[in-house]
Amino acid sequence: MAVLDKLNAMISKSTSSSLGLSRGERGGHLGVWVKRGELYRVAFHYQGQTKTGKVFSGHFSYTFGPAVNSGCFQSLEMPRSFKEFLVGKEPAKTGSITVDFISEGGKNSKSYELRPILLCYRQKGAFIPGELCHRAWLMPDTAELASIKENDLKAHSEKIKAELEEKRKKEEAEKRAQEEAAKKAAEEAAKVAAAKAAAASKPAATAAASGPVDRSKPTLPNGKMIVVYGSSTGNTKNVADAVKAEFGEAVDHVKNITEIHPADLAQFEKVIVGVPTWHIGEIQEDWGAVLPEIEALNFQGKKVAVFGLGDGKGYPETYVDAMAELVEKFEKKGAKLIGMWPTEGYEFKKSKALRDGKFLGLVIDVENQDHLSDKRVKAWVAQLQKEL
Ligand SMILES: Cc1cc2nc3c(=O)[nH]c(=O)nc-3n(C[C@H](O)[C@H](O)[C@H](O)COP(=O)(O)O)c2cc1C
Repeated sequence: MAVLDKLNAMISKSTSSSLGLSRGERGGHLGVWVKRGELYRVAFHYQGQTKTGKVFSGHFSYTFGPAVNSGCFQSLEMPRSFKEFLVGKEPAKTGSITVDFISEGGKNSKSYELRPILLCYRQKGAFIPGELCHRAWLMPDTAELASIKENDLKAHSEKIKAELEEKRKKEEAEKRAQEEAAKKAAEEAAKVAAAKAAAASKPAATAAASGPVDRSKPTLPNGKMIVVYGSSTGNTKNVADAVKAEFGEAVDHVKNITEIHPADLAQFEKVIVGVPTWHIGEIQEDWGAVLPEIEALNFQGKKVAVFGLGDGKGYPETYVDAMAELVEKFEKKGAKLIGMWPTEGYEFKKSKALRDGKFLGLVIDVENQDHLSDKRVKAWVAQLQKEL
């Protein structure tokens, strides 16, 4: 025991020293530890001779990026050539090992005899002093790492530290964003459920009272003007009725899109469509279902006007977006858009339903500005009467 203590003292000089070598985590490793300051690199230089006079010499290093900090122990895996030198078929019988510890304080070189290093290599030598935290195993430097100059080691360590910190922050931000998205999706699902429940509790306001239509036959007699809407909770239906009331006899029909054959639309010279936006920028589902059929129709020479419902405070970034999707389909098939409407007085941030600084048609915001709805409908119908 006394002999081992002596060897331990020899290898680590004294535990009052701030850095040194010790046994590693396992056989075949050496350990390096640091008690104070930052250690950037440990470089080994060895030379020796076998019994028969064969000469060994070599060097290898370990660059810590980021630096090994105060109170750390790192286990170092030894390269094959050094293992040959220490414990190979014909190992060195005499020789020495110099180890350069390159830390923030500069270069500190220590020389070791073969024997104590061999003991450490076999897990019998000096212990790690005190309670130092263990980092990980480290392989010898690649040529690229070994080529970093001593004077640049601190900067290298700082660079890696900054990269790791940035990665950590990025991962944290990603995690936060995922949590936010999950929360938003849950809120959205709750809103949909609540809106559906509200719609179910007021059947008079919901549309599609007559249920899905037989799409194989035309459903409407000819006429000049029709108001067609989709409505999940009844608001757009109410505006459609108000538009009809303003126009009076000039409007032949007010229909939910689920009640008619989309082909019926092409029989009218003037088509007024009402569409709410749902699910963050999506077209209301009944309109969504007939868009492919509308795309197959011809609206050449027809006039189309649109009114859209949306909630500018609840969904300020996707305000009445569905209007744009619907108008695009009609215009693509030749319809002429009328009834563009000023944005003054509305509160929102973004909308796809804008063209030349105006809404594509009348916008009604029941959630936030219902007191203006009647006035807006009246003014819009008066404008349409002039444009038609
Ligand atoms: C879950 C949900 C999502 C919505 N998404 C939007 C949206 O992205 N943009 C918008 O302007 N309004 C949005 N709204 C508001 C509706 O368009 C508004 O309540 C409209 O009056 C509903 O019309 P309806 O009753 O005819 O279906 C959303 C409402 C709910 C409940």
